[in-house]
Amino acid sequence: MTSTISISIDGKTCECPMIIGSEGERALDISHLRAATGLITLDPGYGNTGSCQSAITYIDGEKGILRYRGIPIQEFVEHPNFVEVAWLLIFGRLPKKAELARFSVRLTDNAHLHEAMKHNFEGFPATAQPMAITSAMINTIGCFHSELFLPRDDPETEEAAARLISKIRTIAAFTYRKVRGLPYIYANPRLRYCANLLHMMFSMPYDEHVIDKEIEDAMNLIFILHADHEQNCSTSTVRMVGSSQANLFASCAAGVCALWGPRHGGANVAVLEMLERIHQGGLTAEKYIELAKRKDSDVRLMGFGHRVYKNYDPRARILQKTCEKVLKKLKIKDPLLDIARKLEELALNDSYFVERKLYPNVDFYSGIILRAVGIPTNMFTVMFVIGRLPGWIAHWKEQHDDPTTKIARPRQIYTGLVNQHYVPLDQR
Ligand code: ACO
Repeated sequence: MTSTISISIDGKTCECPMIIGSEGERALDISHLRAATGLITLDPGYGNTGSCQSAITYIDGEKGILRYRGIPIQEFVEHPNFVEVAWLLIFGRLPKKAELARFSVRLTDNAHLHEAMKHNFEGFPATAQPMAITSAMINTIGCFHSELFLPRDDPETEEAAARLISKIRTIAAFTYRKVRGLPYIYANPRLRYCANLLHMMFSMPYDEHVIDKEIEDAMNLIFILHADHEQNCSTSTVRMVGSSQANLFASCAAGVCALWGPRHGGANVAVLEMLERIHQGGLTAEKYIELAKRKDSDVRLMGFGHRVYKNYDPRARILQKTCEKVLKKLKIKDPLLDIARKLEELALNDSYFVERKLYPNVDFYSGIILRAVGIPTNMFTVMFVIGRLPGWIAHWKEQHDDPTTKIARPRQIYTGLVNQHYVPLDQR
């Protein structure tokens, strides 16, 4: 196989090495293209651009494959343990018993927020967007742990990761309670990660929320399936911000903002809004599908389509089954699930969606599960943050461990005015 491709333009040649990944994917290394030929590449949306080499997650979008550190995500389904997967992503291998126990203790020890942070929550209006609070609070916890801004080795990274992964759960629960005017509930050190989240969200000082093991497993699974997805918009944002040597907390806070948008993590909210809109009777599933296909409408079938998956998102397959299980366990008959099934059936048999390879993505069923568990729609994307945080930390670490990392600074093609002159204010 050719190991170098020559690109010749105007008599100038750039020898571009062929880079081959461990799963055989190929890329052209064009890092010397501009120096050799004066040209840059233009790839809006980066659909053809690899921004880094990474050993964390592998996706084959055509075959619907997703693996964390080489392990297919389906293998995490039977005994879902989000804490274990978080450690795997960050440190590159499954933790040994003692390592997992140590990390779990660190998570328990770090569940509390500095009491001064309560004032920060108080400062937000009751109508504040939970994602805005979440991003602000991640930067705020950084203010209390600046010694871990730039972890220098694995023990420091583990401590920083434990603080972030543990405290994000408390931040999510306090955000939920602040918006409702409910008293804050502190973590219970006897509870595991997901059970503790549900306890902090739903217990009352006089009434402890009872956590069912199947619901706890479903939450673990949701977080695991959101834990990493290589160079998606928010992870690329974390790497972009981190490339300037901005600290871990600031980089993750930026990731939250990128995740917020409805074309990314915010899609789980948009899916529920879409299902509710159809349920309320203004539109049928058939009409919605027609609208989503029209080029003159800005409606999309939310929870469908993916930049990388041109096949069924393997996470959606797992969550579809989990959704059925959770509703059965909680004895809930949710009409939104019937609408989701109907939309899926219509889309998968419609040439518009088939030709464009648009399939359900991770967000299509996750919202119905979260709603059944009692999590309100405006907290869905915050749940996504909890899940995605280990992935962001893993990518930040990988980038910082790589001595060849450069500041991320794309170029552009300028299309603005040329040769203009300043006109004094009184002459305009
Ligand atoms: N409904 C209707 N049409 C769609 C949809 C959709 N959900 N998604 C893509 N299309 C159409 C586009 O209109 C376009 O049609 P055209 O070729 O006739 O112009 C074609 O499919 C390609 O779409 P692009 O937007 O170019 O694809 P891209 O890879 O840039 O977008 C994205 C991917 C943003 C996920 C898109 O599919 C979408 O908006 N989906 C709905 C939002 C969503 O569910 N986002 C969550 C993604 S998963 C995640 O981030 C966790």
